[in-house]
Amino acid sequence: MKLMSGNSNLSLAQSVADYLDIKLTDASVKRFADDEIFVEIHENVRGEDVFIMQSTSFPANDNLMELLIGIDALRRASAKRITAVIPYFGYARQDRKPGPRTPISAKLVANLITEAGADRVLSIDLHAGQIQGFFDIPTDNLYGAPVMSADIQARFAGHELMVISPDVGGVVRARALAKRLDNAPLAIVDKRRERAGESEVMNIIGDVSGRFCILIDDIVDSGGTLCNAADALKAKGATEVVAYITHGVLSGGAVARINDSCLKELVITDSIGATDAVKDSDKIRHLTMAPLLGEAIKRIADETSVSSLFD
Ligand code: R5P
Repeated sequence: MKLMSGNSNLSLAQSVADYLDIKLTDASVKRFADDEIFVEIHENVRGEDVFIMQSTSFPANDNLMELLIGIDALRRASAKRITAVIPYFGYARQDRKPGPRTPISAKLVANLITEAGADRVLSIDLHAGQIQGFFDIPTDNLYGAPVMSADIQARFAGHELMVISPDVGGVVRARALAKRLDNAPLAIVDKRRERAGESEVMNIIGDVSGRFCILIDDIVDSGGTLCNAADALKAKGATEVVAYITHGVLSGGAVARINDSCLKELVITDSIGATDAVKDSDKIRHLTMAPLLGEAIKRIADETSVSSLFD
């Protein structure tokens, strides 16, 4: 088995390699003067079971191209099986036509990855479960909830916990976390987005008064959804609001918005490499997905069950 990494999140790839007790495959990514990407693998991969790790996070298009070209290089080097390990699958939010004459870019990206030569995909907390079906190759979707619930239990046991979904679409994810927290009660923020990139909190379904609220979501991007939800929860009498979010996209002024918000803490995973602003924030803490990814990779290579990781 070999693990090769793109440049989007080298520290996570190195941690996964450490978990697996292997060295990262020796490969380099260069750029031509016009910014074309060139990938070169410096060791033999013929007949190998190769995992190539790359989050398609900011800069999304460059990181995606690097992944596609890396897969192509592996295929042409006769790797036996290529698994694209995409901790954060960018473009996932474009999973349906929001209006006439618009694309379904998540499907296009899935096609590109398959066409490049991937045999399997491994990701974490896909924005929507059905994105698995966009790939015509086996796709494993890992869940951040076990890592998050262990952290919540270690830090906040003894509080009157309540799990909050920041929108109706996240209820299944929130319910799964609540189940892991001894069936903590659940509330839902009825969010309505008037324009792309803006969110508006309309209502809270459930009584959050006196509760220590755990907001759970797959993505924090502008931070608008999260900060509006936190404000609304506080206004309804929540004692504290802590957020657990798998993918810290955190674009634009998101970190400043989080720092200035009423959130007690934002906990994100390392599915996306942290920027300096994220590292410097006193309000943002990281949980690592390396052991979970490493164990899933090991099980895929050994052809044993991945789903039993979540029993
Ligand atoms: C939306 O359905 C997602 O689950 C997130 O709630 C959303 O992407 C967060 O975006 P933002 O931080 O920009 O409000």
